[in-house]
Amino acid sequence: MSEFRRHVMGAAATLALLAPAEAGSAQEAIAFPEGYRSWHHVKSMLIEEGHPLFADFGGLHHVYANDVARRGYETGSFEDGSVIVFDLLAVERTADNAVVEKERKVLAVMVRDSARFAATGGWGYEAWAGGDPAKPVVGEKAAEACHACHEQAAPDYVFSEWRP
Ligand code: HEC
Repeated sequence: MSEFRRHVMGAAATLALLAPAEAGSAQEAIAFPEGYRSWHHVKSMLIEEGHPLFADFGGLHHVYANDVARRGYETGSFEDGSVIVFDLLAVERTADNAVVEKERKVLAVMVRDSARFAATGGWGYEAWAGGDPAKPVVGEKAAEACHACHEQAAPDYVFSEWRP
């Protein structure tokens, strides 16, 4: 078992301990999207000061899709097994006017499982502060923190579109 995987499993165990073990509400942690940097790059976007989402999403983000989600961007229907990653990095403007990538601010995912995540439109949501698998920040708050906004997106609650 790799050191990294041990780390991820450790994070899952921690979350399970923190979550109240009430019947019906206990939820297994969403897996960190290991290897996503080798998935399909969907698009990128720079959000600067003055944009309505700057407080939460300011910086440069890249969206990645696994093979199943990649097909969803083509067909307009995201099958179970789709995983989409939103990778947000801080940016810095250099003295000679380039914008360069800095530290990772957050790594967010949407995981398609229509039965397990029926309450949030078939998508499970999680995000890790700084992209650290040991620091999940969403947990049971997915409905208010994520889906309340994604609910407006179509098709299938996905905002981004495949950039040719
Ligand atoms: C206020 C609205 C809003 C909230 C809240 C929000 N998002 Fe998003 N999200 C967006 C928008 C807009 C995009 C599209 C960005 C683009 O096109 O580059 C997006 C894109 C994404 C994507 C890429 C797939 C897609 O739909 O384009 C993921 C994954 C994602 N968000 C996860 C999350 C998670 C996890 C949360 C909760 C912690 C969250 N989002 C909360 C607006 C929101």
